[in-house]
Amino acid sequence: MLKIFKPCDFHVHLREGSLSHFVLKENNKHFQKILVMPNLKKPLTNSNLLLNYRKKILKINKSSEVLFTIYLNKDCSLKDLEYMHKNKLFFSAKLYPLNATTNSTSGVSDIKKMSKFLTFLEENNIPLCIHGEHVHNNDDPYEREKKFLDKELSWITKRFKSLKITLEHITTKDSVSFINSHKNISATITTHHLLENTYSFLGNELKPELFCKPIIKGSVHQEALQKVALSGNPRFFFGSDSAPHLKTRKFAPSCCAGVYSTKYSISNILEFFWINKKSSNINKFLTQNGCKHYGLNYDKSTHSYKRLKNFKFQKYSKFKNDYLINYNCFDNIWLKI
Ligand code: NCD
Ligand code: ZN
Repeated sequence: MLKIFKPCDFHVHLREGSLSHFVLKENNKHFQKILVMPNLKKPLTNSNLLLNYRKKILKINKSSEVLFTIYLNKDCSLKDLEYMHKNKLFFSAKLYPLNATTNSTSGVSDIKKMSKFLTFLEENNIPLCIHGEHVHNNDDPYEREKKFLDKELSWITKRFKSLKITLEHITTKDSVSFINSHKNISATITTHHLLENTYSFLGNELKPELFCKPIIKGSVHQEALQKVALSGNPRFFFGSDSAPHLKTRKFAPSCCAGVYSTKYSISNILEFFWINKKSSNINKFLTQNGCKHYGLNYDKSTHSYKRLKNFKFQKYSKFKNDYLINYNCFDNIWLKI
């Protein structure tokens, strides 16, 4: 049995329409706080779009504290950002490099042109969340994260010394070192980047359900993520990057990027810390480190989970005429009691 605080997911995609109802309901079961990503089909780049999305999500939300992000790009207006900030409409700003991932065709092609927005964030103590991949036409996708550290993130951290940064869904040992050697920057780690590697993704048979951005890396990188997560290091915390796509879009000739992990992510994390005898650091990874980084209070009531062996996991959740594919890694489950 394990007793933990209700966890926070500091990186989740709720999508929109009926899918967002389905996904938010699942999130409400597991998380006390969720940081919601803005990469809708029409990304949340201004107050009209954000207000509309907020209204819809807050209407169907039952129990989680929902933190919204705004999608930064060159079409944003400082005046509008000021208005949204003054009215507490968003919590953090997200930077997607152009064409790095799902719904990023409105992303940023030249970070240096975003200086006035980054200055605004820095001056107002607004966190910047970053999809850290340097994307260039023929670049090797396995090198994109490392290149981003060298070519873009180093520039940002040098230039905006007091900007609070979250490097999202890190996948490499290089990112772990970067975070550990810079101030004002923390990182989120997903369930699947912690528990999978190149071999499990494509070493035997290719698993489209594990295809995501940044792409899952080799075991040397995976071990670096595992070590730092298990250690309770305050600069690293959970952000699932749970990103639902329909099964017909995943098991397709052209598979879209994103792993849907919400249903079993807490169970997977609990099992991972349990088998590594690091259960005493679970609250740090799942709740406290992220709240500390973001300066948030959290609900300290505890919830009990029990471990069941050889559980029959539900690989697919029916959604309309299709399915969502639930990510799960272990045979045992941790169930809330
Ligand atoms: C995410 C999605 O589907 O929205 N996909 C992914 O592979 N992680 C976008 C993102 O966070 O990169
Ligand atoms: Zn994401």
